[in-house]
Amino acid sequence: MMRSIGLAYVRVGEFAWSRLEPEPGRHDLDWLRRAIDTLADAGLKIVLGTPTATPPKWLVERMPDMLPVDAEGRVRKFGSRRHYCFSHEGYARECDRIVTRLAQEFGEHPAVVAWQTDNEYGCHDTVESFSSAARDAFRAWCERKYGTIAALNEAWGNVFWSMELARFSEIDLPNLTVTTPNPAHLLDFKRFSSEQVAAFNKRQTVIIRRHSPGRSVIHNFMGAFTAFDHFALARDLDVAAWDSYPLGFLECGRRDAGLKKKFARVGDPDFQAFHHDLYRGCGRGRWLVMEQQPGAVNWAPWNAAPAPGAIRLWAFEAFAAGAEVVSFFRWRQAPFAQEQMHEGLLLPNGDPNLAFHATAEIARELDALDARVETEPSPIALIFDYESAWAWDVERQGQDFRYFDLMLDFYVGLRRLGLSLDIAPATPEAVRGRRLVLAPALFSASEDFVAAVKESGAVALLGPRSGAKTPDFHIPPQLPPGTLQALIDVRVLGVESLRPGVDVAVGPGRICGWRERLSLGRGVESLLSASDGETALARSGETFYLAGRADAELLDRVLRLTLESAGLQALDIGEDVRVRDNGATRYVFNYGPEPADISGLVRGARLVLGQTILPSCGVAAFRLR
Ligand code: GAL
Repeated sequence: MMRSIGLAYVRVGEFAWSRLEPEPGRHDLDWLRRAIDTLADAGLKIVLGTPTATPPKWLVERMPDMLPVDAEGRVRKFGSRRHYCFSHEGYARECDRIVTRLAQEFGEHPAVVAWQTDNEYGCHDTVESFSSAARDAFRAWCERKYGTIAALNEAWGNVFWSMELARFSEIDLPNLTVTTPNPAHLLDFKRFSSEQVAAFNKRQTVIIRRHSPGRSVIHNFMGAFTAFDHFALARDLDVAAWDSYPLGFLECGRRDAGLKKKFARVGDPDFQAFHHDLYRGCGRGRWLVMEQQPGAVNWAPWNAAPAPGAIRLWAFEAFAAGAEVVSFFRWRQAPFAQEQMHEGLLLPNGDPNLAFHATAEIARELDALDARVETEPSPIALIFDYESAWAWDVERQGQDFRYFDLMLDFYVGLRRLGLSLDIAPATPEAVRGRRLVLAPALFSASEDFVAAVKESGAVALLGPRSGAKTPDFHIPPQLPPGTLQALIDVRVLGVESLRPGVDVAVGPGRICGWRERLSLGRGVESLLSASDGETALARSGETFYLAGRADAELLDRVLRLTLESAGLQALDIGEDVRVRDNGATRYVFNYGPEPADISGLVRGARLVLGQTILPSCGVAAFRLR
């Protein structure tokens, strides 16, 4: 059946530990070998999962202290999945053992072309654990980082409230304190927790590479998830992947109610594309969708079924962004346990469901289209920095200030102007060759990064909250934006966070939620002012500084100004249409309920897919050159 609809890849095994090793040391791999051989005989390629997201009961019984502990100090029990603490060395050794066994057994099987390590690191809030294993490992981490306890006291500012410590063994985890823990302590704990995840993953990649040469090592990341540094972890992967559930994410997300209602069956027109770009950046160009929503799921507050055509729209949006594979989760709906209400390509009884037919159509079209995977760099880079996400979680200051949401605002703003961009880390390499670099809310900028932006000659858009802290979480001595003053001589003298409805007019747009009071230094002009005369947008040469969180209207204006000075052109695409330029091909998508006339975007170019009156959920592609 898989072959009959043109599937090429199958992922298996990611939660199978209790069947691979029913008792300690007694492995049963025959059933998996039979499955792999069966799939291989049908010409399918296999992505084999390591089962470490689901330690079996016997293992937990043997070492109960491997269970994670939540911030309230409660042990998180066996009975679902991800019940392990990343810092538990005993558990890590058990993982080494099962991964070695699997990699020895199947590593050179000709049909096994790739591996997936674990499954969705951090899902269900599992990056941070407040266990004694984590506490001990954190103490050692602090000692490696600071060398002396005096240096740690200084960096954290522990003189405040008499928090000074005499030795590393006195360090505790930043939970269950009477009031707010020290932000520097919290930020270091987040850095530590992130590194624990990367180290856990790395162990598996080393074992797999030893026994399974030439295969790609992949991990499946999630949406709107920032609890560990994905750029750092992905350095040990060959290909980054993510699990894309457009309708589930829309329901669980924080976009406004009108948008949720309008797109309830097609998903947010920008959220998926944002992650495609983010994870393409993590994978250094190589990425795929490991799980694509095939129908209604079970885990959102409401679980609508996709509109006819939505599955195809999502798949093409991914391929247009350079996805090497789009894999659906799951093949057959499970009739039992937690996810029995999660649809698959097949019904629980094995008969085809709607997504089966949709997938067959996608495969046929891809064949006809002779699609190539293209990932040409964009002249625009949006800097995405996981440490900044942690910093602004640690110190939100206004309860709706979320780094992820702010980044999505900028992304949406550019995408609505028809632009295709890359999402990149705050490194010198990421800015080279760009014409426009956006680094809002980058909490601390290294000298190297600042120098690279300067050298690149790119137009830079900073603020709000860019350069607002030192890496130790102090206010910089020269005041924010700290090191970024080398690009624009402004100083942030004060900030305020504003409840919804208390906003400030800037022309037809508004600053809402967050606002900064700037003093302008040499060579800095005020480009846009608020109704009370304060600067909203400052400019010095190629650098712009936005002194607040802009609503969609103001952001549109600001982005157009920066695009203009970078010599980049916005497209007029209309409300519900989205565009992706990749290499020589321009893809156009209609997320709206009505047909859209896209002839203005096509203009004589050769149409290779779709039509100029694009129906709802329609996809068009044409060659630009
Ligand atoms: C993902 C996960 C899958 C399955 C799916 C349900 O989080 O990797 O195992 O649970 O969601 O939509």
